[in-house]
Amino acid sequence: MVRLSRRTILLAGSAWAFARGGACDVGTQTTARPSLSIPPELRADAAGSIKLDAQAGTMRFLGDRETATYGVNGPYLGPALRLRRGETVTVQVTNSVPENITMHWHGLIIPGAADGGPHQVIAPGKSWRTQLSINQPAATLWFHPHYYPSTAQVVIKGLAGLLIVDDEEAGRLPLPSRWGVDDIPLIIQDRRFTPDGQFFDRMNAIAVTNGYVGDIALVNGARYPEARTARGWIRLRILNGSNARGYKLRVSDNRSFYVIASDGGLLASPVELKELQIFAGERFEMLVDGRDGRAFDVVALPVAQGIMRLPPFDGPLPLVTIRPDGADGAGRLPSSLAVLPALPRRLPPVSQELAMNMFHDMRGMMPLQQAGLPAMIQSGKTDPAVVARVADLIVGDSALSQAEQLSSNGVNRKPFSLERIDFTAARDKDLRWRISEGRDRMPHPVHIHGCQFRIISRDGEPPEPERAGWKDVAPISNGGVTEILLRFPYSASRDDPYMAHCHILEHEDSGMMAQFTVS
Ligand code: C2O
Ligand code: CU
Ligand code: CU
Repeated sequence: MVRLSRRTILLAGSAWAFARGGACDVGTQTTARPSLSIPPELRADAAGSIKLDAQAGTMRFLGDRETATYGVNGPYLGPALRLRRGETVTVQVTNSVPENITMHWHGLIIPGAADGGPHQVIAPGKSWRTQLSINQPAATLWFHPHYYPSTAQVVIKGLAGLLIVDDEEAGRLPLPSRWGVDDIPLIIQDRRFTPDGQFFDRMNAIAVTNGYVGDIALVNGARYPEARTARGWIRLRILNGSNARGYKLRVSDNRSFYVIASDGGLLASPVELKELQIFAGERFEMLVDGRDGRAFDVVALPVAQGIMRLPPFDGPLPLVTIRPDGADGAGRLPSSLAVLPALPRRLPPVSQELAMNMFHDMRGMMPLQQAGLPAMIQSGKTDPAVVARVADLIVGDSALSQAEQLSSNGVNRKPFSLERIDFTAARDKDLRWRISEGRDRMPHPVHIHGCQFRIISRDGEPPEPERAGWKDVAPISNGGVTEILLRFPYSASRDDPYMAHCHILEHEDSGMMAQFTVS
């Protein structure tokens, strides 16, 4: 992480020692813990410019072993860019890593030419300059490379960061907003390490079907860190920055929390929940009442995502401890948040279908079946022999050839091609798209560039209240169908098209992506 103190580095290893189960009881937690690293805020300078440098580095995630990493302006992850609605900034991205990258502003509503998609390649040693004119409501967005077909690999190494849009409306609300004090960013990722302490990463049959399966949860680059915050209402800005894994989040003492924002900005009013499902690429902001000063953990519960139930994700797994025992916080929970336009009574006809396809899912699923994974999940009991066999498949299976990789998945029956524009969308017009999946039973969090949209329905039902606001990721699961209402205010040309893809990065990198122009 960017602003890692020496203390954090020294203590990172001791996080290994935390005990499962008992760890939730933070009152008795005595082992030294890494402190939550808070990405530094980065605003445009007086000349309106922002400089980002994608660079190689090292980090100690596992005791004394050094892991080779990538980061933006630091060794792992990046700063939190803060941009204001109405401002125009020039961003210069320098590529100091030894491979091609791009830099994409996930959730930002900007023209195709500024989007940083797979066509806007930054070769090693080169820079890319682009202007970003911010014209959308306050929101927690993020940035990451989008080079085809190696987005997954560079995100695993650490290239990703938050991009926060601020605006006057949100600024007038009494929400907690002191960065790192009562406004706490949480980037949740899972990782797996090789025996010599490097990030495990391999595009084999298991990966292109199931996505990346980590066996360690990191929050802002540390394992089970701890944050001391103000005493009062705490705002958590949560990014599921994992390549493939979804999480079901809960607060350890089962207190309610209040979701105030989804991907693209504030909800109409807070949504009180005890559990929140967050898919890869999604963001939610929530408020937790910490006025009693009592520590709590954010805990991940097992999800309905097959292989993602391997330990330590087979039971409640504490991700981070929040200790709201500092000076009194000033924020509070308002009863209403933002004005969201109602969906039109007469919806436009469906103008685009996007079906996520897996062409070789049996090749990835059969070995898991033979290893006994589905049966183990059914039984609800973790069997170490099955776990060992599945782990062997994850790390032992050899990588696919690039040709095999690129033809493993698709959208509308075709694997992605940089040379082919898949469709065209009308600019400045309400559009209705239908997103579905084939016969596979995998979740696919589908992301669309160039817009923030609204979910009309998910499997025929209205969206959950926490997904009824602005979104840029539409999850589908279990053969599901999601309809969305969207509008593109800017254009995207054949040279700089927008992308529509599954945000399971291993699906994206193996063909589950389409590209389109807007005019
Ligand atoms: Cu977050 Cu097209 O990506
Ligand atoms: Cu995006
Ligand atoms: Cu997918």
